[in-house]
Amino acid sequence: MADGFARSDFTPKVEAELAATWDKVKGRVTPLEWQIHAPLIARINRLKREKNAVILAHNYMTPEIFHGVGDYVGDSLGLAREAARSDAKIIVQAGVHFMAETSKVLCPDKTVLIPDLRAGCSLASSITGADVRLIKQRYPGLPVVTYVNTTADVKAETDICCTSANAVQVVEWAAREWGVDRVILIPDEFLARNVAAQTDIKIIAWQGRCEVHERFNAQDIADLRAAYPGAEVLAHPECPEEVLAASDFAGSTAAMIDYVVTRQPRQVVLLTECSMASNVAADAPGTQFLGPCNLCPHMKRISLENILEALEKEQYEVTVDPAIADRARLAVQRMIDLPPPATPARYDLVKARHHVDVELI
Ligand code: 13P
Ligand code: SF4
Repeated sequence: MADGFARSDFTPKVEAELAATWDKVKGRVTPLEWQIHAPLIARINRLKREKNAVILAHNYMTPEIFHGVGDYVGDSLGLAREAARSDAKIIVQAGVHFMAETSKVLCPDKTVLIPDLRAGCSLASSITGADVRLIKQRYPGLPVVTYVNTTADVKAETDICCTSANAVQVVEWAAREWGVDRVILIPDEFLARNVAAQTDIKIIAWQGRCEVHERFNAQDIADLRAAYPGAEVLAHPECPEEVLAASDFAGSTAAMIDYVVTRQPRQVVLLTECSMASNVAADAPGTQFLGPCNLCPHMKRISLENILEALEKEQYEVTVDPAIADRARLAVQRMIDLPPPATPARYDLVKARHHVDVELI
């Protein structure tokens, strides 16, 4: 059981086995912490092999999870794609509950586990399936595009899902398919506003917010630019419009990582969750990561200890009513079946600087 792990389990064999992982995390994890983490990582990786399990880890996981036990690490779109093609028997979702539900919807025959059932999301809890039914009554004939940060119940009422990596592409696809010039994009108001700034399609939005990204503001960026004139500023599209307008680049978590690894900026500001900088640092040795960043309390519920416990006890199993899952799958699969963006979404910030109104429900 995870609680039984101590520094005495940090044997020379474990140390040697995980030398490459230590190399990745040593800038962000202290040697003392490593003596606790390494035996847990070794045990988790053994159990994965024994049980034919795979760990799908979001980019916001802490570095010891991201580099130590994640079989696949990525953004929401990448995690959904990976779940769909996995042939493991068990999926452990190192992320939040809506991600585990998405995996279950795509893989109804697999056991999907989440290490802590309380790992929620302020966007997912901002809207219900009943809300979407009312929206559809109010706007008959318009396609409903739903951000994946929603429950399966909401996805089941939806025509197609999107993530921060493909939202513009999905909205434009839906408008073409339905032959309309207005699309409902729910529940993240800021994502909707940021998409509206990049397309001629009119957007109808819900007033959901990410509690992590809504806290950034343009003053943060102005202060950082004054202190570090050469720093490049990257923002997640769940941030307010004023933040994207003042940034150099915006994209999904995977797109931000790609930007940093490819361009190796001297100084960078990642306006997103704090673990992003810790995780990408290993692949950008010359880059200095500047604040601010905010912690997602839901993502931070996941730890090596509860991942190990999840595998040992095969808990906590995530289930979705099959009737709901069948309908939700259509929306998620439609998104997955669209061709992947040639490069990760690159927001056109020249266009995004012009404020475009959205209709708020
Ligand atoms: P990404 O899809 O960009 O990884 O974002 C997921 C998320 O929850 C961001 O807050
Ligand atoms: Fe939800 Fe925001 Fe946390 Fe992402 S960062 S899981 S959108 S609360």
